[in-house]
Amino acid sequence: MRKRIDLNYEWEFTEIWNTEFLEGKKMEAETVCLPHTCKEVPFHYFDETLYQMHCGYRRVIKAPVEWKTKRVILTIGAAGHYAEVYLNGEKLAEHGCGYTAFSVELDKLRYGEDNLLAISVDSRETLNVPPFGYVIDYMTFGGLYREVWLDITEPQYIKDVFVKPEIPEKKGLMRKDSDEIQTQERLPEIRFTGPVRTEVAIAGDETGLTVRQIVCRKPAAGKKKDGQNKLTAEYDTIMGSEMSACTEQTASLAECIHTERKTAGYSCPVVCTELAVPDAELWDVLQPQLYTLRTQLLRGEELLDSCDTVFGFRRMAWTPEGFFLNGRRLKIVGLNRHQSYPFTGYAMPASQERREADILKYELGLNAVRTSHYPQSQHFIDRCDEIGLLVFTEMPGWQHIGDEAWKKQAVENTREMVLQYRNHPAVFLWGVRINESQDDDAFYTMTNAVAHALDETRPTGGVRAHKRSHLLEDVYTYNDFSHDGTNGGCEQKRKVTSDMGKAYMVTEYNGHMFPTKTFDSELHRRDHALRHARVLNDIAAQKDIAGSFGWCFADYNTHQDFGSGDRICYHGVMDMFRNPKLAAAVYASQQEERPVLEISSAMDIGEHPTGNQERIFVFTNADQVRMYKNSRLLKTYETCNPAYPDLKHAPIEIDDFVGDILEKEEGFAPLQARLVKDLLNYAAVFGFSHLPPKILAKGAVLMQRYRMSFDDAYRLYGKYIGDWGGSATSYRFEAIKDGHVVKTVIKEPVKQIHLDAEADHTELLEARTYDVAAIRLTMRDQNSNVLPFYQGSVFLKTEGSIRLIGPETAQLRGGMGGTYVKTAGEAGDGKLIMTNEQGGEIQILFSVRKREAM
Ligand code: GAL
Repeated sequence: MRKRIDLNYEWEFTEIWNTEFLEGKKMEAETVCLPHTCKEVPFHYFDETLYQMHCGYRRVIKAPVEWKTKRVILTIGAAGHYAEVYLNGEKLAEHGCGYTAFSVELDKLRYGEDNLLAISVDSRETLNVPPFGYVIDYMTFGGLYREVWLDITEPQYIKDVFVKPEIPEKKGLMRKDSDEIQTQERLPEIRFTGPVRTEVAIAGDETGLTVRQIVCRKPAAGKKKDGQNKLTAEYDTIMGSEMSACTEQTASLAECIHTERKTAGYSCPVVCTELAVPDAELWDVLQPQLYTLRTQLLRGEELLDSCDTVFGFRRMAWTPEGFFLNGRRLKIVGLNRHQSYPFTGYAMPASQERREADILKYELGLNAVRTSHYPQSQHFIDRCDEIGLLVFTEMPGWQHIGDEAWKKQAVENTREMVLQYRNHPAVFLWGVRINESQDDDAFYTMTNAVAHALDETRPTGGVRAHKRSHLLEDVYTYNDFSHDGTNGGCEQKRKVTSDMGKAYMVTEYNGHMFPTKTFDSELHRRDHALRHARVLNDIAAQKDIAGSFGWCFADYNTHQDFGSGDRICYHGVMDMFRNPKLAAAVYASQQEERPVLEISSAMDIGEHPTGNQERIFVFTNADQVRMYKNSRLLKTYETCNPAYPDLKHAPIEIDDFVGDILEKEEGFAPLQARLVKDLLNYAAVFGFSHLPPKILAKGAVLMQRYRMSFDDAYRLYGKYIGDWGGSATSYRFEAIKDGHVVKTVIKEPVKQIHLDAEADHTELLEARTYDVAAIRLTMRDQNSNVLPFYQGSVFLKTEGSIRLIGPETAQLRGGMGGTYVKTAGEAGDGKLIMTNEQGGEIQILFSVRKREAM
């Protein structure tokens, strides 16, 4: 029976790989835990050569004599970017992709002895493997940044399981592509007997073994575990006549890539089975019901191996008219995600990877993510499965296509990507082109063939930035950067694609078109948000666009050729610590679960030239928004905006700073009050200097009919709007949903400030790896508004069982920042103490549990 041993602790690490290290000589070396970054980096302004090195990891493996009759398989979750594996000084394997896992059988172990496992990891960009060879707009951090483990198995073991669940074609069940159920909130309540085909690859030559398969229904994400998974089906298949030495898939794979079939994972017997899961429910973004397939390998009743595969039943249709999930049209609303974090680069344990999916789904309200520009952590994708977040994952690369050796590696990367991620119900499309590269038909014929051969259940896409490129894929996926803030949000499908008969999706927009920092001017942050709203609206308007992925989720460290010169691309709707910018509210306000109310302005007139308010927008998912000035209701806004007719919750534009006070306090007649109000409201936003003809005409009427002068207008402006030097104003905004106030925002001069700290979790668990908690830090005013121009420091200190990651001072930028704490091998309580000159001291208490790694 398989035994898994995690190897995430107690590695010796050297930044300079050398023979002494490989040979096991005693030397000064740091002891590290995985996930590990080969170099912890500053927040910004650092050179990318910092993490480029040929480094090494080593540790001892005690191989008991009982292992003699077993197989010992080492799996490395990720080694950025070229790895060589040595056992007792002898090289066993090499691997040339920094973003996929690989396994090596340790068949030369010395049993009953200590064995030295050493791994050299090269993160230099001179490597001739994707994504290297040209410039890259993201940092390619190195190290053993995911988990490493050993599987001790019998000679016969389960090498791989591919699960292909289906939804039966039957009357009464939804069609593949129907507009009948238009709303994205509702899902047909159906139960069905779900056919599941599987391919089980078995290592070893023995026939007559039994493959037993058991299907269980997983408790839904977020629901309390009900103790046990519910058993729904159990099947036995005897290996023998139905066992084939290699499948059709392997045959076509072997034709298109010239690596040995041994590495295809299918050089061994493959058992194809068919099961039927009774009373099955759909996997959907609204209801991500999952099932576990337990596959066991038995000799008689002796259990040789067991392996669990999680899957879900869902039906996708990519049509020229759009994307359909489980029979209803689903407009894909997603963002691109890089897997990098401040300080630790790519290295974060499972809890943080899972949290990323939660932020995307629950804080931003998205239904999809693109793992730009490489396959990302299995923990991240597992969580996407659990919560119903679709994933477009793609082969590693950025714009550049290298020589034949490079391409061979890229095809191999595609193969590994598909093999390693194809059971995830969340994965809905394979990206089989190097992001934004030129056409290369021979190369992309191969990558398409590999993906199709290994997975006939999903289509391929391939992200390009040019129009009418050769479409070898099933979906034309295009980075549409046409929006510049003044024009339409996206191009029409027919102006871009080379085949109107295939599906079409936008895979990037905005990004470098409008870099935005959390500490940029208010108007800049507002315009950033409006650009996202414009594109979302215009994509929503075009039925034949399957959806879109904005650029991007969070700011990221980048190379010297990109970003703002400080090695950061400020393209995120969140900052590097995943604090939201205003643009995040555009996405968040499209969902219904959590009330959103964000105002684009602090209502501080001094932020703007000549003290004009400028155009102010409210981002909300409420039915109505009431705006008050010093407790007086100015206006109740309905949440529809003709400028964004296709957004479910469009930004509201504030157009009234006066209300009915002119009639009430000044005693103006209704027409006079309306004309004065129009004039004042215009001046409030744009000033008196350039009144347009339509406002001047109103002024003329006021002069002629009501004998008013410009001085009157200035006086009224000063009294009701300007407040320049007068007593400051307090504005209150109330979001109303179903008749109730669900959220209130108050904007008034800052009187008190305080530091706010929020940890994503405080009960840390050290088990397979160390654990990390992320802490968001914000400076807020007395009404909890973030202070966008606060740039002070927070001093950090830990006590007890936790340690800091990164510097002991967190620098707030735009009133926001963050830090991370990690476990350090001890159970017990821990404390993070945060002090700020103006905000005082606050603390967060943590508790650390330890579970011995298996
Ligand atoms: C795209 C590219 C992304 C990112 C983005 C910035 O061209 O695919 O990786 O660089 O531009 O807007």
